[in-house]
Amino acid sequence: MNILAIESSCDETAVALYRGKDGMLIDTIHSQADEHAKHGGVVPELAARDHQEKIVQVCQMTLDTGGVNLNQIDGFAYTKGPGLVGPLLIGSSFTRALALATKRPVYPIHHLESHICIAKYAFNDLDFPFIALLVSGGHTAIILAKSLGQYDILGETLDDAAGEAFDKGAKVLGLSYPGGPQIALAAEKYNGKTVVPTLPQPMMKKKTLDFSFSGLKTAFNQAWGKVEPNESNLNAFAYSLQETIANNLIYKIEYAMISHPELPLVVAGGVAANKNIRAKLDNLGKKRRQKVYYPEVKYCTDNAAMVAYTAYLRIKAGLVSTVKDDQDVLPRWPINQL
Ligand code: KG4
Ligand code: ZN
Repeated sequence: MNILAIESSCDETAVALYRGKDGMLIDTIHSQADEHAKHGGVVPELAARDHQEKIVQVCQMTLDTGGVNLNQIDGFAYTKGPGLVGPLLIGSSFTRALALATKRPVYPIHHLESHICIAKYAFNDLDFPFIALLVSGGHTAIILAKSLGQYDILGETLDDAAGEAFDKGAKVLGLSYPGGPQIALAAEKYNGKTVVPTLPQPMMKKKTLDFSFSGLKTAFNQAWGKVEPNESNLNAFAYSLQETIANNLIYKIEYAMISHPELPLVVAGGVAANKNIRAKLDNLGKKRRQKVYYPEVKYCTDNAAMVAYTAYLRIKAGLVSTVKDDQDVLPRWPINQL
């Protein structure tokens, strides 16, 4: 079974080819990050235009590299939501056109479910149920993943996402978009001596699994205004921001792990690529004697491999809903309403 998947929910035009018995064959990504970096963040209109310009090329490249043609594809998967409406519509209409031309089924996939499910690709021993910490640029949530398609939200951010806190902090420091990898690099260079700012630890005193990161951004901005903007201060600030976000995630997820001591933890989304956060979560897993799983680093940020693999899991489980022509994208689509 050959599945061709398309992901276009934000600023990556990605296409992947998955074959049932062989696994992931090809995984192509065109990132628009450099274009959006000029504007300090994703500009939805520019993102949509760029998807439109690149999608045919990225798809053709994937098919050519995989040595297959469209008629050898058994089904087409695409990200139906959540995400930016313009980019989603391009992925959806492109995929449906391919399916119509080849008379094959279309599988609409939930972006966050695919972020979580790709963790299963590398680990045969990982199965539902598990707790998922989903940390991306648009979402931050602690999810009880009961089975494929069955998710309860235990807590989520009330304002900014963790990735957004990295991105906004990077912007304050004059680092480019996306900010997470830039903050991580600068934090690694911290000399351990320069005074770091004291940043607020949001929602730590409240007995809730919800997060709030918008106050952190304000405090960070104010503190940066009070110091000389040199490299050692920049590295110290990056270190402090990363520590604050990491400790906040750890504090909340430990609380969820204590409530579900029998379940493993899956950490997914762009922020799960962060080495420092992974190290802290690994320690927490050891302390609590609960296994911690992450997708491969290249599958943490947006990609189409996760869309293809989730479609494969759903087809195998008989949990697919194929698209009728009147169905649209869902820019806002809670994961507990699948
Ligand atoms: O999952 P993703 O690619 O897109 C969304 O669905 O939102 O996540 C992107 C986010 C960005 O905010 C980016 O700064 C963050 O993930 N990110 C990181 C790292 N790599 C990407 N944050 C911290 N450390 C990283 N190494
Ligand atoms: Zn994503």
